[in-house]
Amino acid sequence: MQLLILPGDGVGGEVMEGVKRVLQWLRECRGLDVDVHEEPFGMAAWWAHGTLMTDETWQRIQTADAILFGAIGSPEYVQIPAEQRRVDWLLEMRRSLDLYENLRPVRAIDALLDASTLRPEVVLGVDMVIVRELAGGVYFGQPRGVETLPDGTRRAVNTIVYTTREVERIARSAFELARTRQGRVCSVDKANVLEFGAFWRETVQAIGDSEYPDVEVSHMYVDNCAMQLVRDPRQFDVIVTENLFGDILSDCAAMVTGSLGMLPSASRGPVRSDGLRAALYEPVHGSAPDIAGQGIANPLAAILSLAMCLRYTLDRVNDAVLVEQAVERAIVAGARTRDLAQPGGTFLSTSEMTDRVIAELHP
Ligand code: IPM
Ligand code: MG
Repeated sequence: MQLLILPGDGVGGEVMEGVKRVLQWLRECRGLDVDVHEEPFGMAAWWAHGTLMTDETWQRIQTADAILFGAIGSPEYVQIPAEQRRVDWLLEMRRSLDLYENLRPVRAIDALLDASTLRPEVVLGVDMVIVRELAGGVYFGQPRGVETLPDGTRRAVNTIVYTTREVERIARSAFELARTRQGRVCSVDKANVLEFGAFWRETVQAIGDSEYPDVEVSHMYVDNCAMQLVRDPRQFDVIVTENLFGDILSDCAAMVTGSLGMLPSASRGPVRSDGLRAALYEPVHGSAPDIAGQGIANPLAAILSLAMCLRYTLDRVNDAVLVEQAVERAIVAGARTRDLAQPGGTFLSTSEMTDRVIAELHP
């Protein structure tokens, strides 16, 4: 198996150091046998090679069995000439690998109930997965752009587009996942206003009726879903939704766990000819320029993303569980990074947090 590490921008490099250490532990203590290659990406590539993405990196992205991705985006991009300042490389990757299935699990950790801005009794026991369609919708729809009108004012356009095939395949992802969980799918749309919403709803319902009669389907408008996520997040098992709604709802749901620094994600494409699926694993939190370079970012979302890679690409479920349990034990033992600490309280650095996780890993 070929793993490609792309630390990227901002805190990406810092949290990926933690991931590399956990990988090293798995090689030494669990006999994990993978080929790991790292490539500079984003500003690091710009400084080294004068481009945000080298051809070689792009080639490796196309052929890797899994990509472990840090983060993209930096205020330093202003230094780059506008025509080369591509901040949409992550979207290019998602599109070129057709990574349509984005899994964002959100689980409350008992020891962190205090970290949430929601009341502990609201958060206790939350365990859901947001299945976000990642290769379509308004992120990629045409037409798009900004034009200047004859009177000198401007007009901006983006387009939400979905085909039957695109909705059906993400619906199947959600139904399959629900079968391994509590057997409930909540499909989120805006069917009361948008044509694509009504179409999404009908298509998901039809797949449920014809192929997954054992799974319970419900539908919710996206505005109501945002409210329900903070009112009573325990009601959800699997949420399936389109690209932009999933982006927004997953940040919102993150606060159930107290921090965006805890949320891993997996993005997968269709089954390839070699039987594997292209896959990219990344923390949901992004590059966090406000704390980049300080060594205080929370590495747990990145480490939990590695656990998802172990489970989904490497087929090493036992190792995934080991890593997840080590993270949980470290937290129970009081390990806190800044985002998890009480205001004004003490907290660990990124590398100290990784030390704590590794100390909790037992072969
Ligand atoms: C996410 C991020 C990305 C998105 C950005 C960085 C393009 O917010 O993965 O949730 O909007 O999809
Ligand atoms: Mg987002």
